[in-house]
Amino acid sequence: MAARTPESVASPASSTLMEMRDRLIVALDVSTAAEAQQLVQRIGDAAGIYKVGLQLFTAEGPQLVRNLVSSGRKVFLDLKLHDIPNTVGHAVKAAAELGVYMLTVHASGGAAMLGAAAEASANRINLLAVTVLTSLSTDDLHQVGIPDQVADQALRMAALARSAGCQGIVSSPRELVPLRNLLGEDFMIVTPGIRPAGAETHDQQRTATPAQAISNGASHIVVGRPITHASDPVRAAQGIIREMEQARINR
Ligand code: C5P
Repeated sequence: MAARTPESVASPASSTLMEMRDRLIVALDVSTAAEAQQLVQRIGDAAGIYKVGLQLFTAEGPQLVRNLVSSGRKVFLDLKLHDIPNTVGHAVKAAAELGVYMLTVHASGGAAMLGAAAEASANRINLLAVTVLTSLSTDDLHQVGIPDQVADQALRMAALARSAGCQGIVSSPRELVPLRNLLGEDFMIVTPGIRPAGAETHDQQRTATPAQAISNGASHIVVGRPITHASDPVRAAQGIIREMEQARINR
């Protein structure tokens, strides 16, 4: 089955009409709805998408997501689902009913699980598959019985995700070029580990600048602390968008 673009989503990943602002995802890595709302109010339309991950979702639950969606925000719900197809399908349906824009599942859940997720999403969500967690090394893969290198496994998982009907994948900046070559232009590749040129890396080991990520084929970038911890988060977001635009012009 070919990758589908949800009808609720205006543009395919590669569209040059898609503003860079709509490709910038801000990670709301906080524990309370109050902190999250405060960040969203401060940053506002300077970023197009807000990511709610396990920390915030576990603490505050779906009401926070409903509130963000009803205030007009696009929400990336980063729950990295991995369970039997029936359970994942029902969870995807519940996420679709919340009105989220993007949702993550683990590609390693297999074709049946990914297929159930795609069917349950009924074209209402951009389903993104995590290929290989960037915290895993090739040795870690060997330990769980996967004989390949991380890069090869990431490519295999990406192909599986696409054939099962996902709209995109999450990838480290490191594997972007071969992934984009494999997947073609109209598939979302979402990349975290982004640091503007000269910014502090925090605990990220292998970072890329916004410009590098876009020129290497990312459709979206995830940025947390360089925006959320900035003294002027709007300015920080605008600087990142300028870098992204420059890279697109050069791509
Ligand atoms: O603050 P920072 O920009 O490092 O935040 C990056 C966000 O992307 C966090 O929400 C983090 O969990 C997520 N992420 C990541 N690396 C991965 C997968 C997700 O940094 N490999």
